[in-house]
Amino acid sequence: MPPIQKRAPRVRLVTHRLILQPLMPRHAPQVHEAIARSRPALRRWLPFAARQRERETLAFIRRTARSRGHSVWGVWERSDAGEAPGVRRGRVRPALYCGTLGLHGVDREQAVGTLGYWVRTSRAGRGYTTEAAAAVLLWAFGPLGLARVSVEAAPGNAASLRVIAKLGFVREGLKRQAQRIPGRRARLDWVEFGMTRQDWRCARPALVRRCGVARPWEPAARR
Ligand SMILES: CC(C)(COP(=O)(O)OP(=O)(O)OC[C@H]1O[C@@H](n2cnc3c(N)ncnc32)[C@H](O)[C@@H]1OP(=O)(O)O)[C@@H](O)C(=O)NCCC(=O)NCCS
Repeated sequence: MPPIQKRAPRVRLVTHRLILQPLMPRHAPQVHEAIARSRPALRRWLPFAARQRERETLAFIRRTARSRGHSVWGVWERSDAGEAPGVRRGRVRPALYCGTLGLHGVDREQAVGTLGYWVRTSRAGRGYTTEAAAAVLLWAFGPLGLARVSVEAAPGNAASLRVIAKLGFVREGLKRQAQRIPGRRARLDWVEFGMTRQDWRCARPALVRRCGVARPWEPAARR
């Protein structure tokens, strides 16, 4: 039986264009600035984004940083973006804050977790979310040892459904009227997807290509 963890594992992941760092309270101003600039796109699918102020962003970061059930990363562009592709870890520094990616509902005993994400609107459509999520999936099925990762998206959320397809998730069902969106009468359905360890083995070569590296985690941060 693995030792009981007081909080979820926190590792830094580096891909060929991005750095994923566990979110810390000191990151709250950067996260808030990205949310504030991306509100019109985010609020349609993520109710929290409609009104969230900086102190609520800070409270979310504090809560998840202490939690056993959430691994939440901030996603930054690498300071050497635009140079020749490749993963050079030593001198790589985070530059622009590009979004947030989380593995929620992490249960180490059941070996399951659920993916969630958003991207800064000015960086949408560049493949960043797929690249960052590929790194998280390589780590989650690798050193973390999960057996299953799930993800959900509304049927009308074409960008999120495309990310999910590019990552190699398998559609499993429809959760009807799963979410209330403030200001709208109709509730949103969610399409449910899953990736098992077997699915991950098939998807792995494509995930490595998206991410630019087979082991995006830093060696010192192995779990
Ligand atoms: C969903 C989201 C995270 C995607 O981030 P991203 O970094 O732009 O994703 P990627 O660039 O990796 O991939 C997006 C894909 O969707 C496609 N896409 C974007 N808008 C689309 C649309 N309206 N219709 C069809 N495809 C669309 C893009 O062309 C791209 O596919 P491609 O690589 O085949 O060209 C981003 O749109 C977002 O933050 N949305 C609001 C929050 C949200 O919905 N979060 C997820 C909740 S489930």
